[in-house]
Amino acid sequence: MGIKSRNITAVPHRVKVQERWRVNNHKGGVLWFTGLSGSGKTTLAFELEKILFSEGYHAYVLDGDNIRQGLSSDLGFNHEDRTENIRRIGEVAALFTGAGTIVLSAFISPYRSDRSLARKAVGESFHEIYLSANLGICEARDTKGLYKKAHNGEIPNFTGVSAPYECPTSPDLTIDTENLSIEDSTTFLMHYIKRVFKM
Ligand code: ADX
Repeated sequence: MGIKSRNITAVPHRVKVQERWRVNNHKGGVLWFTGLSGSGKTTLAFELEKILFSEGYHAYVLDGDNIRQGLSSDLGFNHEDRTENIRRIGEVAALFTGAGTIVLSAFISPYRSDRSLARKAVGESFHEIYLSANLGICEARDTKGLYKKAHNGEIPNFTGVSAPYECPTSPDLTIDTENLSIEDSTTFLMHYIKRVFKM
């Protein structure tokens, strides 16, 4: 999106991000979870946030259902609104990254082009994590009862039912949440986080 404002000048921070990393004892960046509703994004993100916090990491979850009650409360689920939702989250994730935090973002983010714009906003510390669980499994879990409603025609544009999901072509990591337990998934992700955000 272009910049509408005129007469603005970017001001550099006087605290370098590397100084923030040194104080935190780890680098900042984004684990961008993407996958169908019910693939485990929210569960894993909040589980990791708790573990990371207890180990002294600065980590924060940005979650679709929460963000859509505040920052994105003016947006729905058509293509254009989802694109705007992900654009905002990409920018917010970039700000958190600049503050030295590890962001765990949990959004369906169904469109490849939107995810790639989020990557562009954040830069090299962006990690796309694909939670691969097929539609049948997510529908069977139906944790929020939404697939049932979508099939009954009560929810339009529902991802996987009446709206598309474009799976990542080259994710930084894939977690097979169809076959891995929550515990195994978090253990695996903790190893990944410790490696990529190490000072
Ligand atoms: S995204 O497509 O813009 O990335 P986001 O992750 O913010 O979606 O929100 C998805 C959440 O909104 C789902 O977990 C579900 O609880 C709820 N939801 C409500 N309506 C829909 C819909 N039409 N499609 C998908 N999820 C929906």
